[in-house]
Amino acid sequence: MKFLVHTYGCQMNVRDSEAVEAMLVAAGHEKVENEQDAELVIVNSCTVRQKAEEKAIGKAGNLIAAKKVTGLMGCAVKRLGADVFKKLPHLDFAVAPRSAGLIPRIVAEGRYPRLELGDDLIPEALAAHSASGFQAFVTVLLGCDNRCSYCIVPDVRGHEYSRPAAEVIAEVEALARRGVKEVCLLGQSVLRYGVRNPVWPDAKGEAFPRLLRALAKIDGIERIRFTSAHPKGCTDELVEVFRTEPKVCRHLHLPVQSGSDRILAEMGRHYTRAEYLAAIRKLRDFDPAFAITTDVIVGYPGETEEDFEATRSLMDEAGFDNSFIFKYSPRPGTRSALLVDDVSVEEKERRNQVLLADQQRRGLERNLRLVGTVREVLVEGPSKRNPERLGGRDGGNRIVVWDASDAPIGSKVSILVTDAHAQILVGEAKVLGGK
Ligand code: 5AD
Ligand code: SF4
Repeated sequence: MKFLVHTYGCQMNVRDSEAVEAMLVAAGHEKVENEQDAELVIVNSCTVRQKAEEKAIGKAGNLIAAKKVTGLMGCAVKRLGADVFKKLPHLDFAVAPRSAGLIPRIVAEGRYPRLELGDDLIPEALAAHSASGFQAFVTVLLGCDNRCSYCIVPDVRGHEYSRPAAEVIAEVEALARRGVKEVCLLGQSVLRYGVRNPVWPDAKGEAFPRLLRALAKIDGIERIRFTSAHPKGCTDELVEVFRTEPKVCRHLHLPVQSGSDRILAEMGRHYTRAEYLAAIRKLRDFDPAFAITTDVIVGYPGETEEDFEATRSLMDEAGFDNSFIFKYSPRPGTRSALLVDDVSVEEKERRNQVLLADQQRRGLERNLRLVGTVREVLVEGPSKRNPERLGGRDGGNRIVVWDASDAPIGSKVSILVTDAHAQILVGEAKVLGGK
């Protein structure tokens, strides 16, 4: 069958979609680029905010109207349960995140409608990778037990489970043999790797830093990234890995959510503003260019102007290289959904715009400091905006573009930064031997 998967949401979903695609291809189905050509379309949904869920449901509705065999997978399925068929009466199948591995069988059997909400792990779905590309996502931690007041993820992605280190290492070794150069390790709170269940046969050292060191030894793997992190996991051992392992990229996505201690406590984030800033100081101390990116929620229930200003000032103090701003959206069943959503839509939008403008200025300032330096860039391909240029990312996950040289995709090049924008570095390829 010709099929296509549409993905909404975070990297976990991108990863799950890739695994489903790989399993369907292995079962003899054909992946197509164009929706018109597809007989089967699967929408991988997000539910972190109301709008995200609505987009995925809307998309599935359109596909049903276009008479495709339509499946919905991902986080919104788990949240809605059987109600998903009330929203989409002619949906063929709906599969919760941890059941994604059942999709090939569901398609083979073709008995619709079908709903799978199970929480059991399906190992094939964890290990399936598509056969191309030099970058790969590797799931190391599933689910989340953090229970932040606003967040639906623990309800939809289940309890935290860390994959055994030997399994992760074997998977990365297999990827390296296939030509993968960069892996990104995934988990909602990846620094909790090995906290809920043991992952190493003995208890020597901290589980996640130890995993990073083991993966760094694999020939062919040039870069190791991971996301997302929590300040509590920024231990001295992790800092030491960043300092001493050149393959481990000097970038941390460290969602802060708010700069107000009062709001942080209400959210149940388990750190204060001062603790957050101390965590990132440890990283910037040994490398001022260490990239820190973040997520922020504006308009949490009861967020005053003073709380908001605290977030603004924290963002400046932290000097984030990039930030993603979200307007608070109450999610049914979460603790904060019981609070009055009292910041108006207009005020949330205003706070959002203020933080975006701040980030533009701050991003530019931080990037301008890199002009004149040389960045190690992994070539990703022609730049989207200007195909005359090549683009890639440096270890800090910054986008770098330069006038096309003959560097092949997936190779590492040294780029001298000559100009900077808020979201992008511009440079020129250094001539070999000219270093
Ligand atoms: N409303 C708005 N933003 C949210 N996020 C998580 N839950 C909510 C919510 N209920 C944001 C957080 C998280 C990112 C993935 O989405 O900032 O880090
Ligand atoms: Fe990712 Fe959370 Fe959205 Fe699920 S709900 S796709 S875990 S952001």
